[in-house]
Amino acid sequence: MNAQGELVCAYHAWRIRSNGTAISPSKPDKVYSVPMLKTWEKHGFIWVAHTNVPDSAFPDFMHPRYQLIGGFTEAFRAPLPVVLDNFGEIEHSFHVHVFVGTSSESLDTLSFSSETGEDETIGRSSSKYRGLPLKFHRFFGIREGDNYHIDWVFRFKPLHGSYHNYWSDPVSATRRPVSFIVTTFLVPVRDREIDVHTFVQMAIESPGLRWLAPVLRLGAMAVTKYEIKNDADIARYAPESSDGRQWNLTHLDKQLFVNRRLMDRIYLAPQPANVAPPTPAS
Ligand SMILES: [Fe+2]
Repeated sequence: MNAQGELVCAYHAWRIRSNGTAISPSKPDKVYSVPMLKTWEKHGFIWVAHTNVPDSAFPDFMHPRYQLIGGFTEAFRAPLPVVLDNFGEIEHSFHVHVFVGTSSESLDTLSFSSETGEDETIGRSSSKYRGLPLKFHRFFGIREGDNYHIDWVFRFKPLHGSYHNYWSDPVSATRRPVSFIVTTFLVPVRDREIDVHTFVQMAIESPGLRWLAPVLRLGAMAVTKYEIKNDADIARYAPESSDGRQWNLTHLDKQLFVNRRLMDRIYLAPQPANVAPPTPAS
């Protein structure tokens, strides 16, 4: 970037301006035009879209009562449908994850239901909470035997799912005071390389627990990064291609083919430039 705010190419020193024009030093009397993208700087990322995409198309994943506590990127070395599958079912959690979902001892407590909308899928899961080491969860109001809920909605323009994590008393169904929303954006970079940009929001309902916010923030970010990395580590063993027709599926996998169909129709189908979705770019 030079003093005039122009981007200067390191190779031939072309000067590219923010209005989409460019000048070559060896032919300064000619003004060239360069293809432009629309950008937003939001939530610690730069988001890109075609120039004529309206601001209203920006994916509104922030919950008004939650605070964004961080974002990060993990590269998945797997085909896009496999990464999509990973974010569309809860069944792998007891084996792949350490904190998310239930443990192998409580698999019989796992319940799941789903809905399919015109351009979104919804999942609701509940299971007995497996707890944190040293019963650390008690510090922020979660008890042994609590129900752990993950309710999510997955949308396709752009590809992203928001996962609402909360806990409740198994008898009274009273919600515990701390909850999180984890949102993952799936951005294909090249074949078998999908960047998963993840954002974490947190809400602390009880004023008496607010002093714990810094600890909870650090803990939630560390746990989310660890679990997304666990997903990436297992996804890279996925076969090159599989249409899933030979799979033995259960009700826990109900969303997989719906998600793939909606992804094909909404996200991968050729789209006019004015409806291409905004996408975060690292
Ligand atoms: Fe997972």
